[in-house]
Amino acid sequence: MIISALKSNDPKDQRSPIHIDTVTALINTGADILFEKDIGSGINTYDQEFEELGLKGASRSECISKSNLLITNQPLQLEELSLMQPGASLIGMVNPFSNQELINACADRKINLVSMEFIPRITRAQKMDVLSSQANLAGYAAVIESAKHLSTALPMMMTAAGTLKPARVFVIGVGVAGLQAIATAKRLGARVDAFDTRDVVEEQVNSLGAKFVKIDLGETGQTDQGYAKELTPEQVQKQKDLQSDVCARSDIVITTAQLFGRPAPQLIDDNTIKKMKPGSVIFDMAVESGGNVEGSIADEVVINNGVKIIGISNLASSVSNHASLALSNNYNHWITDFYNKEESVINFNFEDEIVKSSVIVFDGKILNERFQ
Ligand code: NAI
Repeated sequence: MIISALKSNDPKDQRSPIHIDTVTALINTGADILFEKDIGSGINTYDQEFEELGLKGASRSECISKSNLLITNQPLQLEELSLMQPGASLIGMVNPFSNQELINACADRKINLVSMEFIPRITRAQKMDVLSSQANLAGYAAVIESAKHLSTALPMMMTAAGTLKPARVFVIGVGVAGLQAIATAKRLGARVDAFDTRDVVEEQVNSLGAKFVKIDLGETGQTDQGYAKELTPEQVQKQKDLQSDVCARSDIVITTAQLFGRPAPQLIDDNTIKKMKPGSVIFDMAVESGGNVEGSIADEVVINNGVKIIGISNLASSVSNHASLALSNNYNHWITDFYNKEESVINFNFEDEIVKSSVIVFDGKILNERFQ
């Protein structure tokens, strides 16, 4: 078995799919491990450090063409996929919702495709959940980035030069990213409000010392995987109207609202932005999936009526070392849980809920009905 790890082909993604602190799990499989040269440049790790552990640096094309199992943080280009051996497996973050071509090509070429975005939300699979591991770090980074753009400090300070009031932070969407954003803002001393359409999170918000904003939208709820159900257009409008006063009094608004596999809902419009204080910051964490905020643009600071609207793509990459450590652990858990050491093969056991959910293509067939 040859396992290869690829460097990201997106210059905005500094993360590596292998990490010096976690690579022992892969080494212990007994497989030969190749990595694309310079793979650790975004996390300050030199090739030599991996080579000292017995891994071998190789060119990108060599990694792709020689591997039986290829690990990647980014989807492969189709021409690169054609270098893979039939029967080999590709595992990683492959952006399946915008990548039907890759899925079809994997089926045509008999490449098995494991999408880590489709890890089921069950307790046993939490250690493999890339969406959660990256959203957690992104929630932290959103607060740090927002604080950098604010002209006030976050904590209350009572000094001889006067009393400085704490900043007010409003977090909209309290999933994995939102909870970490609340925790980070609280640690920095801000007063935090939060809202989510899933009212089950109220207790979690309170337990972090933040205040849950009550907005009655009627029937909302969540799917059996814990994702929010889509609101009707009337409910979205009601939410916008009722939360606008909270936005107006906040110094930082962080929006994290997502709908799995669908565009994010727009929750802050121009009317709300016009009510906000000049100098306040809106951080749109959903900017890459359609945006929660009117006018937000990925990797730009848009100024509307003095309000700074920020959206950063691949936010977890701004803390690339920890993001890589978490990601590599997620991948390693999938690989080692389904690795048959005696025969040096991946055991694609479709009786297992994790395999069934995360494997999109196997042996030339598209198994996930969303993509057939
Ligand atoms: P997500 O990234 O899909 O969405 C982020 C948040 O936005 C969610 O809390 C969602 O309810 C909220 N949202 C959607 N529309 C909204 C609106 N109009 N207004 C306000 N908020 C809105 O969700 P994420 O963070 O991936 O996870 C959601 C939940 O799933 C978690 O809170 C957790 O309970 C559960 N989960 C379970 C796991 C497991 O059991 N293995 C792993 C990860 C999460």
